Amino acid sequence: MDTLTAIKTRRSIRNYRDEILDINLISEIVSYWLYAPSAHNQQAWKYYIISKKADREFLAETMEYWKMLLNAWWCILACYDKDRVRSFEFVQQDMWASIQSILLAAHEKWVWTVWLWLYPHDEPMSKISQHFDLPDSITPFAIISMWVPEWEIPEKNLKSEWKIVII
Ligand SMILES: Cc1cc2nc3c(=O)[nH]c(=O)nc-3n(C[C@H](O)[C@H](O)[C@H](O)COP(=O)(O)O)c2cc1C
Repeated sequence: MDTLTAIKTRRSIRNYRDEILDINLISEIVSYWLYAPSAHNQQAWKYYIISKKADREFLAETMEYWKMLLNAWWCILACYDKDRVRSFEFVQQDMWASIQSILLAAHEKWVWTVWLWLYPHDEPMSKISQHFDLPDSITPFAIISMWVPEWEIPEKNLKSEWKIVII
């Protein structure tokens, strides 16, 4: 798939087929975060692959909008490491860029994803830190669910007009 097609056809998919996804494939997809841009090239991100059903159940309980995690085989916990951050004002933007890289890499491999927000809500962030016993320097930022889609992928319904304004 070329880059432009990937950007245009990536979708958030919340219904999944009963088919196992290989951990090696998931690891490969997640490794593409390494190539994302980051402010001052700080690369302070850290990603965990969550494999246990009990942990996905915990996450689905934690957030009302995360019920799809009950069906997804894998999900990714995207974090940043405070000890490696040089510019705190930019670290969120680094995270967004790296998550988008993972979504597009997954799309190339025909693995479908949903980006689930976590940052900047302190309560679920600290619940997750406690549950996974994360070191103090690790800040949970977002979850990405991953699986094989149940249905054909719907086309994107664009809300904004395609109109470039040159100023
Ligand atoms: C920062 C962010 C947080 C999101 N959080 C959720 C979420 O908690 N639950 C969910 O089902 N989708 C979530 N999404 C996915 C959006 O709902 C989805 O991207 C949007 O509806 C557009 O659909 P598309 O991704 O198929 O183009 C989130 C997306 C972003 C960028």
